[in-house]
Amino acid sequence: MKKIGILTSGGDCSGLNSIIRAAFLRTKELGFELIGIRYGVKGLADRPYDIVKITDQMCCTGLLTMAGSILKSNTKSLEKSLNISSRDTINSRILDAYNELGLEGVIWVGGDGSLGIINEQFKKFDGFNFVAIPKTIDNDVSITDYSVGFFSAIEVATEAIENISTTARSHDRVMVIETMGRYAGFIALYAGIASGADIILTQEFPYSKENLVSKVKSVYNEKGYCIIVASEAVPHPLEGFQYTGQSIAQFIQNKTHIDSRNTILGHIQRGGKTSVIDRLLASSFAVEAVNLIRDKKFCRVVCLEGGKVTSKPLEFGTNSISKNLSNQPEFISVAKNLGIYVGEI
Ligand code: F6P
Repeated sequence: MKKIGILTSGGDCSGLNSIIRAAFLRTKELGFELIGIRYGVKGLADRPYDIVKITDQMCCTGLLTMAGSILKSNTKSLEKSLNISSRDTINSRILDAYNELGLEGVIWVGGDGSLGIINEQFKKFDGFNFVAIPKTIDNDVSITDYSVGFFSAIEVATEAIENISTTARSHDRVMVIETMGRYAGFIALYAGIASGADIILTQEFPYSKENLVSKVKSVYNEKGYCIIVASEAVPHPLEGFQYTGQSIAQFIQNKTHIDSRNTILGHIQRGGKTSVIDRLLASSFAVEAVNLIRDKKFCRVVCLEGGKVTSKPLEFGTNSISKNLSNQPEFISVAKNLGIYVGEI
């Protein structure tokens, strides 16, 4: 029986298990076996290998909607987690495992960090065949319009902002909600629009302190409360504060004397039931990935382009793996047209 490997690497998100399940169903249809590799590619570098055969039993236990990864994930460097300093030793261990297991190819589910590593280390590996599936709550992988995990994260963030809005209204407060996203403001923008926020701050579109304060005052005068969503990489308006949201709330309170609070959404954005769109994306990406391996079309990244699931060769130049709102700004103009303050743009 032919075998395909699958692994999840980098920060997790909701939708990874949905990908594993769909890859299993597609390999089963083809009469192939799916081998789960644990803790990212580390599972192939470990001795004994850290692998597990994916079975019907595993896939019928709610994987379609369950956040996290049954295969676990790694964020530490391989050198650190294996305690081996030579990259060549690690790479030849991985290649040996790949050959000994007789894999046709590996489905590598990863974000921009993982794609960068594959691009640097594994593309040139003769005989290590892979297809990548982009996943990340940040949606910052440039090769695809949307990555698996993003839509589930904005469901969680949107619901949290709505919950914070009701208490803001009761207490006549300004509420700042800090979202994740690393250097990309997609979560803040999309969840901000979907939850009815008044102000959305992202690193991509710098704000003016004066215009921020005057927008807060005018919203507060009209509605009696104000909701600000700030992406975690937004620069701090004041010196000395550790967190973006906290420093913005403090700044607003000092300038307006309106009671202001901050909530950091944090890792809840990486959990939650997999959203319907993510289940559809995960299923289509996994089917495409298995088919590419069946057809021996390797070294490609599955992606969504203009509503169509397709794949592209993994060919990144320096700094072109990641994107942010500057590369995909459509919803910025939607926000502006709704009267939301999104910075000086
Ligand atoms: O890339 C996903 C992400 O959740 C970012 O949004 C966030 O900045 C980072 O990972 C947090 O990483 P960690 O879980 O290692 O603290």
